[in-house]
Amino acid sequence: MLIRMARKSTPKSSEITPKDVYLNRRRFIAGTGLIAGSAALGLNSAPVSAAVEPPGANPALSPIVDGYSKVGADDPLTPYTDVTSYNNFYEFGTGKGDPVENAGPFNPKPWEITVDGMCANPGTMGLEDFLKPHDLEERIYRLRCVEAWSMVVPWVGISLADVVKRFEPNGSAKYVQFETIVRKEEMVGQRSRRILPWPYIEGLRLDEAMNPLAILAVGLYGEELPNQNGAPIRLMTPWKYGFKSIKSIVKITFTDKKPKNTWQVMASNEYGFYANVNPGVDHPRWSQARERRIGDFLRRETLMFNGYEEEVGELYAGMNLRKEY
Ligand code: MTE
Repeated sequence: MLIRMARKSTPKSSEITPKDVYLNRRRFIAGTGLIAGSAALGLNSAPVSAAVEPPGANPALSPIVDGYSKVGADDPLTPYTDVTSYNNFYEFGTGKGDPVENAGPFNPKPWEITVDGMCANPGTMGLEDFLKPHDLEERIYRLRCVEAWSMVVPWVGISLADVVKRFEPNGSAKYVQFETIVRKEEMVGQRSRRILPWPYIEGLRLDEAMNPLAILAVGLYGEELPNQNGAPIRLMTPWKYGFKSIKSIVKITFTDKKPKNTWQVMASNEYGFYANVNPGVDHPRWSQARERRIGDFLRRETLMFNGYEEEVGELYAGMNLRKEY
């Protein structure tokens, strides 16, 4: 199995993760005898829907290798309780506490994903088969919401670039579109079209999707994703505002047309396609220069591309980021 090494300059997850959580997880992973994580996922574990403490037992994700994580010394992990109880997931309601309260009836098992559009290997497959060829990596990233709050989350996921390569987009494909499941019986917010037009749609330019920072996350804090965080699989592009990180994905489409992402459809004067974190371009109703890290009292300065300029700046060279927001 290929093990990706974190860059030397980045702190190891063991240096950042609260020690007790980290040790518990590593002890468990050692105990499982390193079963292939993707094969185990979805078969052996209880759903973690509304838990507000790390379950600490019976995790399905292993082995998890250290991936490219980049956060600073002033970026301690946001506690699991906050990560899993302060959410945006309008399919379960518009309040920050609605997802954890309403996501219990949602059952993400079994799960199928369809990959279609301009690619050589389209198909519909179970989540286990979708994940099987890929390594599960831990990636500790800052998450910056367009509403000017932020968190630091230890995700578990697979490289989106590897996924793209596997399905072989053809030369005409320029974008990747993602779609969230529609399941009104289990997602109370979807019973009203006044909240958002369903399904929730997001998209990336193909070269953005190929950037090594982009992952499809299937877990956090070493455990399967709780329903409220986008079980069983969601996008995570840490240099973009959080609304790009679409949850509970059922469809991935390679296309030559720029996807019309949900928030841009809702309010094109407020939300764009790119949604790159940019302290110099304010939202029409509030400044983006500063942010409130969940748990902090004082606001802190927002970093260009959420601190990932070195990794992603090239993607936007020559673009007018005031116009193409
Ligand atoms: N995905 C779907 N399907 N529906 C949503 O409402 N909200 C987005 C994003 N993904 C959303 C979604 C927004 S606005 C943010 S900030 C992040 O999810 C929040 O992720 P979190 O709840 O795990 O912190």
